[in-house]
Order: sequence, then structure tokens, then C-alpha cells
Amino acid sequence: MQGQTAIAIATPNIAFVKYWGDRDPRLHIPANGSISMNLDGLSTHTQVTFDASFRHDQLILDGKPATGAPLQRVSEFLERVRRLAGWYWNARVVSTNNFPTAAGIASSASAFAALALAASSAMGLQLSERDLSRLARLGSGSACRSVPGGFVEWQPGRDDFDSYGFSIAPPDHWDLADCIAIVSRGQKSVGSIEGHMLAETSPLQKARIADTPLRLKLCRQAISERDFDILANVTELDCQLMHAVMITSTPPLLYWQPVTQLLTRTIQSWRKNGLPVCYTIDAGPNVHVLCPSSYITQVTDQLMQIPGVSKVLVARPGGPARLEK
Ligand code: DP6
Repeated sequence: MQGQTAIAIATPNIAFVKYWGDRDPRLHIPANGSISMNLDGLSTHTQVTFDASFRHDQLILDGKPATGAPLQRVSEFLERVRRLAGWYWNARVVSTNNFPTAAGIASSASAFAALALAASSAMGLQLSERDLSRLARLGSGSACRSVPGGFVEWQPGRDDFDSYGFSIAPPDHWDLADCIAIVSRGQKSVGSIEGHMLAETSPLQKARIADTPLRLKLCRQAISERDFDILANVTELDCQLMHAVMITSTPPLLYWQPVTQLLTRTIQSWRKNGLPVCYTIDAGPNVHVLCPSSYITQVTDQLMQIPGVSKVLVARPGGPARLEK
């Protein structure tokens, strides 16, 4: 029998209300709900081939064979897909990102959304969007939000069955842009997996979780009414709450660099002066600058003038994870 193969493409996503901390770390059941936007133009392209002749799973990441923890994480994920399908050939996974890996752009989200779709399709499983989102979540929490298209809410749920992402608005609902100011291409020191585990050690995490329903409500309202002011206020507050938890964890997690701090102040002053912009920052030093797409050129030009910003990547609202025919 011939090997079974499929190719899938998925985008990363940027969360306006963020996921930080797990109720169940093994199944990535999050401590709180979150809302994000898929990032069109940035993508992970993944081919999965299952073949009876492969003696073990292989992972080729951006052209280089991967070993150790990344291979193990992918192999454990493939094992879940094999169990679902009920057959056990090993696989070769060839994956490329067109953006810097592990530097504050959620590469694990697009990676596991693409892997979930390619691997399940190669095995002949035809999963619903919800089940695909649930499967992707088992690889990386935020990956469940890269399965549906556009603006996506992750319902935290209480168990494996009711924790998944669903679209709350399609990509063309709101012409927003994410201008990502790249300040470092280095790999981050503490990955999100370890970071989520430290969240509980911060005395601020309980307060952050308790206030999340209000932030989710404001964020849904901002998206449904395309209200940039509400989005800006809730996104920046949520970002600051997550980083407050990070820096007050034991041991503390500090992802920012001096230029990250400079950018947050600068963006706030631009907004005070009438420019519709706001920022958010994930587990890394790069700064995601949101604005209506008609301001992309102005925002990009202004960002490039700030010393320490090496590049600006621009993304509009992206579609769902898809198969390449
Ligand atoms: C800071 O989904 O990358 O980007 O499930 O361990 O892979 P794992 O974590 P991950 O965490 C993302 C955290 C974040 C916030 C967010 O995207 O909601």
C-alpha cells in the first residue's frame, strides 16, 4: 500500500484577550476564555506522510531535521491522531513557517493547526471544524483558535469535549491590520508550556481570571460593532494583566526588552494624538500594533523610525486552516 499524504496551511493568531494558565495542562484546558484574530499572509505549510516503511516519526522544520523536544512533541501529537484513526504507521512531517519562529509570534498555533488538519486528513479522518479545533488544542492551546477563520473565540470548557475555538466573525467583517514590530529574532528563553505552569504562582492570576468575563464581553462588543476604541482599551488592559502575572510569577518571566517598553508608550501617545492604534504583546519581545488597515502605511513608516525595530510584518484578518489540493 502507498503512503498516505496531505498538505495543510494555517495562520498564527493574535489574541486580544489572552490565554495564560491551564486548568488542565495535559489537555490544555485553559483557565480562561480568549479571543483572537487569524493573521493572513503569515503561515505554516505542513506536509504529513504516513508510510508503513518509516521506522520512526521524522520532523523537518524549516528545512532542517528536528530532534529532541520538538520531535517528541510532534510524535506525541501524531500518536493521538493514530489512536483516533486506529492505525499506526510512522510519519514524516515537513513544515515551514514564513515568519520568525518562537519570537513572540505564536508559531505553535499555526504549527499544530496545520499539523492537525494534515495528519487527520492523511489518515482519512474527516473531522468537523469543532473536532479539528479540539484536536489542535491538544498540540498547543492557542492552535484551537487557528482552525476556524477570522475572529475566533476559544470557549474554555471544562473537559476535552467542550474546549474549542469557533468563529465569531469572518475575516472580511472588519478590515483591521496587525503591524508586527520585530525587535528580536532570537528564540525565547522560556516557552509558553512552562510559562502556563507558572501562572498559578502569581498572586495576580486569580484577579486576572475573575475579571476575564468582562474583558471577553467588551471584546465581543468591539468586534461586533467594529469599535476600535473599545478594542484598543480592552486589548491593552488584557496584555498588561497577562504580563503583570508573568513578572510576578515564581520564578518571574520577563519577555520584554527596553524597546518593547518604549513601543508601548509611543503607541499610547500616538493614540492620544488621534491615530487609531493599540498594542499587544505575547510571550516574547515583539509588539503587535493593531490599526484599521487604511493606516498600515503610516503606522509601518512610524514604527520603522523607532531605533531597535528591525522589521515590520503586516497581517490582515486570516481565513481558516485549509488543505492544499
Ligand atoms: C501568550 O498556545 O503557545 O500567546 O498551549 O503551551 O503551546 P501552548 O501555549 P500557547 O500559549 C499562547 C499564549 C499567548 C497568549 C495567547 O495567544 O492567548
